[in-house]
Amino acid sequence: MTAGTNAPQDSTYPVPERLQTGKPTPYVTSFDQYKTMWEESVKNPEKFFGDLARDTLSWSKPFQTVLNGSFAQGDVGWFLEGELNACYNCVDRHAIAQPDKVAIIHEGDEIGNVRKITYRELLQEVSRLANVLTSLEVRKGDNIAIYMPMVPEAIFAMLACARVGAVHSVVFAGFSSDSLRDRIQDCGARVVLTADEGRRGGKNIATKRIVDEALKQAPTVEHVLVLRRTGSDIPWTSGRDLWWHEEIEKARPYSPPTNVNAEDPLFLLYTSGSTGTPKGVMHTTGGYLLGAAATVKYIFDYHPNDIHACMADIGWITGHTYLLYGPLLNGATTVVFESTPTYPNPSRFWELIQTHRVTQFYTAPTAIRALRRLGDQWLEGYDLSSLRVIGSVGEPIGGDAWQWYNQMVGKNQCAVVDTYWQTETGSIIVSPLPGATPTKPGSATFPFFGIHPQILDPQTGAVLQGNDVTGVLAISQPWPSMARTVYNNHNRYLDTYLNPYKGFYFTGDGASRDKDGYIWIRGRVDDVINVSGHRLSTAEIESALISHPAVAESAVVGGQDDLTGQCIHAYCTLKPNIENEAGLEKELSLQVRKVIGPFATPKRVYVVADLPKTRSGKIMRRILRKIVNNEQDQLGDISTLADPSVVPMLIDKVHLK
Ligand code: WT7
Repeated sequence: MTAGTNAPQDSTYPVPERLQTGKPTPYVTSFDQYKTMWEESVKNPEKFFGDLARDTLSWSKPFQTVLNGSFAQGDVGWFLEGELNACYNCVDRHAIAQPDKVAIIHEGDEIGNVRKITYRELLQEVSRLANVLTSLEVRKGDNIAIYMPMVPEAIFAMLACARVGAVHSVVFAGFSSDSLRDRIQDCGARVVLTADEGRRGGKNIATKRIVDEALKQAPTVEHVLVLRRTGSDIPWTSGRDLWWHEEIEKARPYSPPTNVNAEDPLFLLYTSGSTGTPKGVMHTTGGYLLGAAATVKYIFDYHPNDIHACMADIGWITGHTYLLYGPLLNGATTVVFESTPTYPNPSRFWELIQTHRVTQFYTAPTAIRALRRLGDQWLEGYDLSSLRVIGSVGEPIGGDAWQWYNQMVGKNQCAVVDTYWQTETGSIIVSPLPGATPTKPGSATFPFFGIHPQILDPQTGAVLQGNDVTGVLAISQPWPSMARTVYNNHNRYLDTYLNPYKGFYFTGDGASRDKDGYIWIRGRVDDVINVSGHRLSTAEIESALISHPAVAESAVVGGQDDLTGQCIHAYCTLKPNIENEAGLEKELSLQVRKVIGPFATPKRVYVVADLPKTRSGKIMRRILRKIVNNEQDQLGDISTLADPSVVPMLIDKVHLK
């Protein structure tokens, strides 16, 4: 278990004045009201979520059964018999009620490069694209890969898939061609939507070239629809590749939505686990949409006319739920940000908030820490008074970064919501509510409606009752937006989430409940590393290293890092007769970058003569982890190692420069 940077503190912050007396009045205005609602939601989920689903979503056919199945059986389903269309819920009903309302504000890579799209325009754009997909013979249930920069067309792409009942699989455009290929192969996509190039931080990114490389080994793909973003020359495969603008031009600007069953898949999103290849986490339509809509309403306290700005990329679950689905389901204006927090300078976020009068702002601790380090002068002179709720997600935020965010960005007048969730949970599961929850810096506080968290003894699985307990975090009853399966591998789903502790959903995170009942997330207890909120598996990085011809074995562990939370340390041994030449460690680092993507680049690679192993040959990662975290004085008993003398050699390698 990683200790993380969260240290329970006693300081409790009351709901800020602005959320108590200002307008609009939050939906939930006291902790008692929250508690009453939460209790109802877990005692009688069928009533609570049945009512909520009827109020929140438009159904083309009403559901009869709210909840079916259980964790024990691994067959959870919500809103059975119900039918709906995700795109209709996100777009059509708002385009009909408020056609001129801005749905999307695109803040391009360069300041001042802003594009606004109303709900009416969004319906036309998405309809056109849906018709193009239909013309390419995309049908309900087909998997479609999306590999795109942060432009409005990426949103159109996702919504167009949903409109025709196809299942989108968005691959973060920072992934390498190998990673893209693996994900396309796993889901057997027939169509890929992409762009000629991306733009980020003033640089061009060779998006289409990466797609071409990936498609050399992805024979299922028949068509690639290419958006012209920069206009640079790109390679072209005629017959297969089609220009987005040429196809769109031919298409009718209305397409009827294809209604699907509540339990039909809406999307796949690949994420790393502790072993093997990335898993295609599958979310279904009705339950996922309800979770997305309800958390935007209650946790971000979304009110009409709010401007919701989620800084995540659409390639991650945060982009799916809090940039696209959640805000649009509520008829909100959502901001799509193409650039980086430091381009052209570290005032970019504040500039964006001021320009668009952002009311809800959502980012990751790594960005907060980086901006804090660059100095408070970058915030000077910016008017952030539009903000009401500021959120954090992806990793433990830690008290110091929380305080800075609260003071410097929120001016002590905003609700700070430290939101805990996962790709698999679909939407936020632990978080304060803006008008109701007194906060403690670094604690995600209390469960959202319908979530019944339990802290378990990691060894016995016993529920640790009461306060002041530490263990692993599990959830004891199904909630609507939970993932339903791993694509084509339901056993893996059961083994990862439902079998470790029978009758519970296992998060993979360690957690405590403090003396006041607040939940503190302590970080992963499995072999998952969280670098700047990006989830990586040690096994994947190790296999990237082993694919280099010089490497015999590798072992990857997470180190603590002030900026990125965790960072990657990789130990490698070389094949016989291969010399550790100057530059090899650098080359191995580049290998990981090439195989997975730039965000997976190890902080350090150590070429070593041997790894610490038990007599049965198991690598003792615990020892490697302690060494990189400067805890070599706490290694414990190393006499069980096959060769204890490797340990001092490793300490020298890591700590002697
Ligand atoms: C893992 C899930 C879901 C959004 C982005 C990441 C960690 C997430 C928090 C938080 C402490 C957090 C957990 C979790 N995590 N939010 N507020 N406090 N840790 O999604 O890639 O599926 O990663 O991120 O370790 O298991 P993901």
